[in-house]
Amino acid sequence: MTGPRKLHIKSYGCQMNAYDSQRMADMLAPDGYTETSDVADADLVVLNTCHIREKAAEKVYSEIGRLRLLKDDAAKAGRSVTIAVAGCVAQAEGAEIMRRAPTVDLVVGPQSYHHLPALLEQAKRGERPVETEFPAQDKFNYLKSPTRDAMRARGVTAFLTIQEGCDKFCTFCVVPYTRGAEVSRPVATIVAEAERLADAGIREITVIGQNVNADHGGGPDGSAFTLAKLMYRLADIPGIDRLRYTTSHPRDVDDSLIAAHRDLPALMPQLHLPVQSGSDRILDAMNRKHTRDDYLRVIDRLRDAQPALAFTSDFIVGFPGETDSDFADTMKLIDEVGFSGSFSFKYSPRAGTPAAEMDDQVPEDVKSERLRQLQALIDRQATDFNRSCVGETLDVLFEKVGRHPGQIVGKSPYLQPVQVNAPATLIGTIAPVRIDGTGPHSLYGTSIEEFAKRAPQRTDLAALEA
Ligand code: SAH
Ligand code: SF4
Ligand code: F3S
Repeated sequence: MTGPRKLHIKSYGCQMNAYDSQRMADMLAPDGYTETSDVADADLVVLNTCHIREKAAEKVYSEIGRLRLLKDDAAKAGRSVTIAVAGCVAQAEGAEIMRRAPTVDLVVGPQSYHHLPALLEQAKRGERPVETEFPAQDKFNYLKSPTRDAMRARGVTAFLTIQEGCDKFCTFCVVPYTRGAEVSRPVATIVAEAERLADAGIREITVIGQNVNADHGGGPDGSAFTLAKLMYRLADIPGIDRLRYTTSHPRDVDDSLIAAHRDLPALMPQLHLPVQSGSDRILDAMNRKHTRDDYLRVIDRLRDAQPALAFTSDFIVGFPGETDSDFADTMKLIDEVGFSGSFSFKYSPRAGTPAAEMDDQVPEDVKSERLRQLQALIDRQATDFNRSCVGETLDVLFEKVGRHPGQIVGKSPYLQPVQVNAPATLIGTIAPVRIDGTGPHSLYGTSIEEFAKRAPQRTDLAALEA
């Protein structure tokens, strides 16, 4: 402990990383580190990296290049800056980062964040430690919890990791290699963390995992505890009014989860359910282990149970062997489902994954053209969806002040940002808002009840269906 120090964490990639970044900050807080948003001010910079596509991984090296200059400047001023690389690039490349980037002081993989204080000690001695083992112990038992103030400062919504890693081995994906095998956290520790969040004023929890709806063996007696059961348990916690989960796999949507979308009002009517492709041939080559029809049937069953549900997905275009007709199948599937939004990517070959070795790689210009067409279709659907909300009354959980004076911003049940002219005292509350218009990325509305709703909100779906 050497007095107050400043920490800057830059997070790339998925929500798992966003969650891990907070846990790293919590882990370092007892050693006197406070977070700064200004990288030039930091004594320790952590890059929490993503390896999912080549572009994501390369970003890390350009960022390290910028940090080198910063570190040199600081050194001239007699101040030492430590640079740590964490996350999935750290896991995938390990010591290679040290060779390629001499300015980096330590490399730590996602399963070892609880060792950060010890690794920093080593780095201080000039040892340049690299820790990318998958230790057998559950890191969650060793990670420190945030203080109540730290939780509150992060806002009224929170991510909560319930499961990590992936056993599915889609042929394009690095996650099973960077995050390891699927491990579920025990339900008791998840519930305890959710209770602490609720106590700090958090109203909405998104439980996260690479395969968040895969079986959970973490029930009190060691038996399976489904995601649906967990949702019911979390909805019982006073103060927790909204629940979401991400990312789920179409193969693991079971009857209990479908029923929860029908019966549990706290479960928000928005679901991210990646399909990747609408062609059976490509789905098979991707090792997704579901067909296009399986996917459509899951969507039908969910919509039967909860007509208000809006879906988003992930798509990959230009997977090896994808023909015009495969791509047309994907566009047809998008037409059939009607998404409220989606993420889409050009296939990026990743070393060590089976698809990178496949012969019939698709040329870059074909990938670009398919991506353009797909994104245009999705954008149209997203715009249509947003427009369909105009005139409706949606419950909004207000999160923060807006960019313009007098404005506050929150999220609709469908995760759309909603901007409203209303007093900042509404932040942290859920209030009905009449939607008046749409912008490029958000909705505008008028709050029709400017008062705090303290009782758990149980009317949102009724309002949506009205
Ligand atoms: N676990 C989640 C998503 C993990 S990665 C799931 O199974 O759906 C997030 C998204 O990145 C994926 O859904 C996929 O669309 C995209 N992605 C993963 N690997 C990719 C690659 N090699 N090239 C392009 N996109 C990729
Ligand atoms: Fe990657 Fe597939 Fe696992 Fe998702 S399910 S993390 S895409 S291997
Ligand atoms: Fe990226 Fe790792 Fe998440 S590769 S998407 S940060 S699991």
